[in-house]
Amino acid sequence: MTTATEDRPTGPPEGTPGTEPFLSVRDLRVRFATEDGLVKAVDGLSFDLPRGRTLGIVGESGSGKSVTNLAVLGLHDPRVTTVTGDILLDGRELTHAPRRALERLRGNTMSMIFQDSLTALSPYYTVGRQIAEPYRKHTGASRARARRRAVEMLGRVGIPRPERRVDDYPHHFSGGMRQRAMIALALVCDPELLIADEPTTALDVTVQAQILDLLADLQRERGTAIVFVTHDLGVVAGVCDEVLVMYAGRCVERGTVRDILKSPRHPYTWGLLGSLPRMTDDADEPLRPIPGTPPSLLTPPPGCPFHPRCPYRDQVPDDRCRVERPPLAPEGGGRASACHLPDERVRELTPGAVR
Ligand SMILES: Nc1ncnc2c1ncn2[C@@H]1O[C@H](COP(=O)(O)OP(=O)(O)OP(=O)(O)O)[C@@H](O)[C@H]1O
Ligand code: SF4
Ligand SMILES: [Mg+2]
Repeated sequence: MTTATEDRPTGPPEGTPGTEPFLSVRDLRVRFATEDGLVKAVDGLSFDLPRGRTLGIVGESGSGKSVTNLAVLGLHDPRVTTVTGDILLDGRELTHAPRRALERLRGNTMSMIFQDSLTALSPYYTVGRQIAEPYRKHTGASRARARRRAVEMLGRVGIPRPERRVDDYPHHFSGGMRQRAMIALALVCDPELLIADEPTTALDVTVQAQILDLLADLQRERGTAIVFVTHDLGVVAGVCDEVLVMYAGRCVERGTVRDILKSPRHPYTWGLLGSLPRMTDDADEPLRPIPGTPPSLLTPPPGCPFHPRCPYRDQVPDDRCRVERPPLAPEGGGRASACHLPDERVRELTPGAVR
């Protein structure tokens, strides 16, 4: 029987040889105490992200993407949340860092574009002030300088007439403009780590392209490390270097963007990409819904967490899928996947696509 601790990697994930990870996450576990019991939202997640690289995180709703990212920023409520494991940012341990130390890093060294722009901006302050304040706080700039910076950032994210809109309140902005304002807020201090959680979902394609260009510029100029959560395969293909596929709070597959989009190995990834037996060449489509629903994180199923929905579980001998949790097994070249299907069977199912 495979246990959670056996799943724990002992060294950095492969795929980034010779590059020091800027963000390193090891065996991250996030538990929420609820009236119904303990929700295991993230269950032993590990990954590395070097400077100047973009890691995509994909998975269905509820797979733990946002919970992972909030843990990196230290934003969970400690009264109801237990976070264990190691989160290292440029060698600094964040998991047990004091609140003040995290506050100094947040919005400065590391920042996040939140999934929900409505809750991320305060209705009580002008948009400009909300962008200028963290800049003032972290750089010591004067009010006038910070205001100019807010105008500049609003312009960079495509807000028309930013010198006038800087004094608007969030409710004066449309949903798409609020999203852009939040992106300006996340970028105002030129973060070294940017976590972008579905940053462009609410935006039309032209603005989306503009924002993606802006992030690419930031990465080129500053070597920013970016974690990018998205349901959009076109965005994954366009911006990510590596991809981590999450299911039920765990990584079920990871690899380069080409590995994952062109030759995925895990049945869950096949389902997400809708790519079996035809390996998709068309990345310009969203992830697809998979029949069935993700498992309860209060009482996850035994064995492979995907087994209740997996069409291939009966192809694995001895009923292993139902009783034994597959470890995340490295496959060389930075790839890893967690599935009991024998390699020969995977090759038969994905002709010509799997090494
Ligand atoms: N504060 C909380 N208390 C209890 N459960 C929570 C809490 N926050 C998140 N969860 C649960 O943790 C799981 C993971 O949630 P998370 O928000 O990370 O999903 P996600 O992958 O970001 O999904 P989406 O694509 O919809 O944004 C979900 O089952 C969610 O209900
Ligand atoms: S381990 Fe079994 S149930 Fe899980 S994905 Fe692989 S074949 Fe499917
Ligand atoms: Mg989310």
